[in-house]
Amino acid sequence: MTEKTENRPLTIRPRRLRLSTGIRRMVRETIVTPDDFIAPLFVRFGEDEKRPIASMPGQFQLSVDKLAEEAKDIADLGIPAVILFGIPEHKDWCGTDNFSKEGIVPQAIRAIKEAAPDLVVISDMCFCEYTDHGHCGIINMPDNDHYNPELPEGYLLNDPTLELLEQASVVHAEAGADIIAPSGMIDGMVAAIRQALDNNHQSQVAVMSYAAKYSSGFYGPFRDAAESPPSFGDRSQYQMDPANRREALKEIALDVEQGADMLMVKPALPYLDILSDLRRHYDLPTSAYQVSGEFAMIHAAAERGWLDLERTALESITSIKRAGADMIITYFAKDAVKWMG
Ligand code: PBG
Repeated sequence: MTEKTENRPLTIRPRRLRLSTGIRRMVRETIVTPDDFIAPLFVRFGEDEKRPIASMPGQFQLSVDKLAEEAKDIADLGIPAVILFGIPEHKDWCGTDNFSKEGIVPQAIRAIKEAAPDLVVISDMCFCEYTDHGHCGIINMPDNDHYNPELPEGYLLNDPTLELLEQASVVHAEAGADIIAPSGMIDGMVAAIRQALDNNHQSQVAVMSYAAKYSSGFYGPFRDAAESPPSFGDRSQYQMDPANRREALKEIALDVEQGADMLMVKPALPYLDILSDLRRHYDLPTSAYQVSGEFAMIHAAAERGWLDLERTALESITSIKRAGADMIITYFAKDAVKWMG
């Protein structure tokens, strides 16, 4: 016999608050808005270029002229910020393009500021896209000026890299960047950049630190997008071990001490525990980076008809906000704004 009426003595029935769209709207705890988004952009050398990135549907490498149009579209959708990645024409051992005034990113910053003056421009500050070996700084090698025979070959030289980060940050700030976002997991990077900016009349420029950035397989498609795979080894001598949770709090504490204005956890979905720990311990505005692999995974499954693209993309974004992110860096930014209506 099945019961036909709802007559059990259940005083508390949480389902009452899920009964209609209206009630669900009233009790919803996490609301995502366009203000939450930061859109990543890839800028490459050349003119009139819009090269699709195969593993990231709807994402492109854009030349500076096309980038300015794209930035305007993003601003018109109500998205407050973009984060820039550069693909320079020439790479070398120390990533010269990154600290040249006419480098690809400084050019891009100036073009965006002209096309969309109110759009906040964040400059991803790292050397991997600019070095010929694809690592995030200067590598200890016998053929370069910084070679130190006491240290292993292939070791990323921390302190010489800080000097380059200082130079490049000042150049990007002078080009008009509002926020510098060091992403190399180089020890001392936040303090070094803060001081360099302050010493060069750029004290108004904020630092958003990739505070807990893991050595992740989910960056796979990005390395095609930014043409920056390491030519030997991987990034595990400087990026964090995915197995470590407590260590993230140490990394975050260091960046807070060094004067970071904003923090970041990256990747996002596989690291929501880290984001939630951060939220519990710190009050600084925090972003989470839903990285290329997270984006590609949803797209690939949706293409096969295994997942609903819109629903799962928005669900993943909501989860990231629910876990504690104030800002979400996501390749879904434009689509999400359109889907949210
Ligand atoms: C390093 C950088 C990377 C990403 C952002 N900044 C690559 C890496 O650390 O290997 C990855 C972003 C993504 O996968 O979407 N400059």
